[in-house]
Amino acid sequence: MRNHIVAGNWKMNKNFGEADELIADLVEKLESIDLVDTQLIICPPALYLELASDQSDDSYFMVGAQDVSEHDSGAYTGEIAASMLESMAIDYCIVGHSERRAYHHETDEQIARKVDQLLKHELRPIVCCGEVLEEREANKQFEVVKRQIVDGLFHLTAEQFANIIIAYEPVWAIGTGKTATPEQAQEMHAYIRSLIAEKYGKEVAENTSILYGGSCKPSNAKELFANPDVDGGLIGGASLKADDFLAIATSF
Ligand code: 13P
Repeated sequence: MRNHIVAGNWKMNKNFGEADELIADLVEKLESIDLVDTQLIICPPALYLELASDQSDDSYFMVGAQDVSEHDSGAYTGEIAASMLESMAIDYCIVGHSERRAYHHETDEQIARKVDQLLKHELRPIVCCGEVLEEREANKQFEVVKRQIVDGLFHLTAEQFANIIIAYEPVWAIGTGKTATPEQAQEMHAYIRSLIAEKYGKEVAENTSILYGGSCKPSNAKELFANPDVDGGLIGGASLKADDFLAIATSF
């Protein structure tokens, strides 16, 4: 069966001291929390990955990066290779976040190459998809998400696909305080699962964790996670405070 996963995407927030404090706060609070079947992941800025992975040893969270290069190595100033993440024992990496699609013009084809890099280096990709407001208003959300999933992921074999985590993040819900309703989330998650089942079979689809992201917070996590196809969350703003993040992680 698939895992419950709650992942925190810190985005470009926190200086070194603040990051250190937040990680220490999480470690301390996790000592008295039983997360049962929930995998907790934190995705801090790349500069703090080592800090986070050093502290994750004895506690209950894993560490992920927020992006990766589509290239192996070489003259790509500012980029981070999957091999580098692997060499630092990083286990997960977010790919295709809507902020990278919008501000860095990332395409589904680039995202597919990033996924390949991660799998080659044994990292689990957390692949984001989701429509913008105009697309939802034009009732094109299914078409858009299908294109993102098919073009970004469906070149994989079933064996490779088993390592993929999907995050449905409607762009209009990110950082806006406007959350998808539990019905909207469930409808899209069930649709994504049906696409996976069509391509890779029911078993692969049933084993794929599909997370919801977009203004998920302690006050709405329970009703979102109560849906049969919502397997957890990719949390932005609310992952920057240990209490809020852990309240979400214990909302199953
Ligand atoms: P917020 O939770 O701040 O809306 O961000 C969601 C997100 O983009 C996580 O990747």
